[in-house]
Amino acid sequence: MRIDPVVRRLVMAVFAGTLAACGGGEPEPAPPDEVGLTRLEVLGKRLFFDASLSVPPGQSCASCHDPALAFSGNNGTTAGVALGADGRSLGLRNTPTAMYARFAPAFDMEDTDGGSIPVGGQFLDGRAASLEIQAAQPFFAPDEMNNPSAAALTTKVAVASYAELFREEWGALVFENPDATMKAIAASIAAFERTERFAPFSSKFDHVGAGLAQYSALEQRGLDLFLDPEKGNCAACHVANPASRNPADSLFTDYTYDNLGVPRNARIPANADPAFFDLGLCGPRRSAPGGDETLCGAFKVPTLRNVGKRVALMHNGYFTRLRDAVAFYATRDTDPARWYPGGVPFDDLPPGYHANVNRSEAPYDRNPGDAPRLDDAEIDAIVAFLGTLTDGYGAPLAAQAKSPARRNGARATGRP
Ligand code: HEC
Ligand code: HEC
Repeated sequence: MRIDPVVRRLVMAVFAGTLAACGGGEPEPAPPDEVGLTRLEVLGKRLFFDASLSVPPGQSCASCHDPALAFSGNNGTTAGVALGADGRSLGLRNTPTAMYARFAPAFDMEDTDGGSIPVGGQFLDGRAASLEIQAAQPFFAPDEMNNPSAAALTTKVAVASYAELFREEWGALVFENPDATMKAIAASIAAFERTERFAPFSSKFDHVGAGLAQYSALEQRGLDLFLDPEKGNCAACHVANPASRNPADSLFTDYTYDNLGVPRNARIPANADPAFFDLGLCGPRRSAPGGDETLCGAFKVPTLRNVGKRVALMHNGYFTRLRDAVAFYATRDTDPARWYPGGVPFDDLPPGYHANVNRSEAPYDRNPGDAPRLDDAEIDAIVAFLGTLTDGYGAPLAAQAKSPARRNGARATGRP
């Protein structure tokens, strides 16, 4: 059963009050959801869920990264992109899950057989090098938590219920310096995001891998199609290694970037301007690495762990149903009229960048009228398999460090 966080907090407060009233010198027991966390992680957790840290108050990290939705969600809106603290502003992008985000390496250009390609980073365009750098940003984004300055945020944290704990961890004078406070906030949150809660490896997929569960026939068929280079070819980017005993070898992403030509989401306010395009790796939030315009329109390959919990899919949240997102892969090129108004493909990219879209590897590499790589029954099987990637099927399984990456040099972006 999921306990509403507000109710839970109330119950905790009453519980703590009762203890205080008893007057015993006993230390307060840790709330059940803080058992096993270090002081630093507890701080991170309280900051992550603190809805007093937005302007106006009411939004926390968890509003968009909802634990009930595998730390994703869009703060209640169905527009496909996140709704800000002001209750009106819609951002540009769909909220990714914060789960398994800690495995992303820092953004870098990596050499492969196919040339130098961008890899890693936080955000869908990789513009934050680490969880720490990422965590500081939502507090000040006008379409997110909307604080005017580090000083204003510091004032609020300095009077929070966990302010004393914060001083114990970060020094008695920490609140006198907003920059130091910001660093401490970001480091605390990042520490929380590195806990097992964000990477439990407790899905059916993990349990099958450990020999503790078995796929249904449909799920097994879906996995085979997912891996088959001639069929779904999904694992070319959403890397999985079911034979490995280490679940961290199956993060369902290699943190590379690709351009899928996802249809334009007309529910995004910025898209009312026909001249506006969200081009991911080449802007508007960053500039293209090395000025390489072939990267325009590419976004980071997301993990597919917990994809069944997504309220919207792809960077712009165009899809609201997982099956549609998978069907898009199969029929984008064979039946473009199904996805694009008037059947003219790639309506969310300026014409000059249409050539950046990946058309070279399965499940693409088809033409209008061809048989798709995946038929309807095969799409259903892949969707059934993706359902096995939801955490909470069983107990968390320990993951070791990720095995060294082997990259697929044939990636569309960064091709020579
Ligand atoms: C208003 C909704 C909203 C709030 C509030 C919010 N986020 Fe996010 N978060 C997003 C969106 C949207 C993105 C993707 C943005 C982009 O790619 O430009 C994102 C990206 C991230 C990522 C990167 C994940 C990845 O795979 O690249 C992490 C980690 C994250 N947020 C953590 C946080 C933390 C920590 C907080 C609180 C300090 C927070 N978020 C507050 C919506 C939100
Ligand atoms: C060539 C690399 C590549 C291949 C092959 C590929 N994907 Fe993806 N996938 C991506 C990228 C990149 C994105 C994000 C694109 C965006 O947001 O614009 C993505 C996004 C997704 C999403 C949305 C996830 C979310 O949280 O929003 C799903 C679902 C998905 N892929 C499933 C699949 C399946 C199933 C297959 C095989 C049929 C597949 N992918 C094959 C690169 C790939």
